Amino acid sequence: MEVVILPGADAVGRLAADAVEAVLRTRERPVLGLATGSSPLATYAELRRRHREAGLSFAHATAFLLDEYVGLPAGHPQRYRAVIDAELTSRVDLHDSRVHSPDGDAADVPAACAAYEAAIAAAGGVDVQLLGIGSDGHLGFNEPGSSLASRTRIKTLTARTRADNARFFAGPDEVPHHVLTQGIGTILDARHLLLLATGEGKADAVAAAVEGPLAAACPASALQLHPHATVVLDEAAAKGLARAGYYREVYGGKPAWQGL
Ligand code: F6R
Repeated sequence: MEVVILPGADAVGRLAADAVEAVLRTRERPVLGLATGSSPLATYAELRRRHREAGLSFAHATAFLLDEYVGLPAGHPQRYRAVIDAELTSRVDLHDSRVHSPDGDAADVPAACAAYEAAIAAAGGVDVQLLGIGSDGHLGFNEPGSSLASRTRIKTLTARTRADNARFFAGPDEVPHHVLTQGIGTILDARHLLLLATGEGKADAVAAAVEGPLAAACPASALQLHPHATVVLDEAAAKGLARAGYYREVYGGKPAWQGL
């Protein structure tokens, strides 16, 4: 696992955008794994800018969202499919029919989850997966205790996650209890995992994920199993890391040819 510590959220966004741009420019049929929430917002802003000003094209790309709420009415602005459209996909040349999200309206939830797994596989798997981390260590919406081998399925949000996400809703009671989320096994199948975290509120979860034991108690620690995982942090999110000095030394001395 590579840990990169940068001065602030904008620098985190630019570096993550570099990794996405590399995939867009080198893969014939790039497949992007997209997260929602606050963590990737600077990345999406930077990708929009590169699309506008530098001709970065998403025309051949396919995108898969990590997760979706269950039970939000059609047209609700916090449906993750609506959020990603607003932040990225409708603002670049990524065709709407190639943006996929778990079906939070499905009558047959297991069938919808299996279909989502099949769609990711049919697209050839995810090239680069953007990830945030919950303050409780969740990855996607795999809450603590989730199987490290799990696939896309329904999960119940913890009270802490619902409280964290209440800022996006009119009030805490509006946050759905249930979500469909890619499993940890699904996420680990992506070829490159890019976890972004900013702010002190993430410091404990980041320390547990990066330097704690591999454990379902901290689902994001599953990144330790992946052969190509990059954790990009601002100074505040890196505050709890015992080996921060070493990570800085490694990144500072990295040969340019290696990329992220
Ligand atoms: C969102 C997702 C979640 C968030 C996490 C952090 O698609 O899967 O794991 O990444 O809850 O959320 P923010 O970035 O809002 O702090």
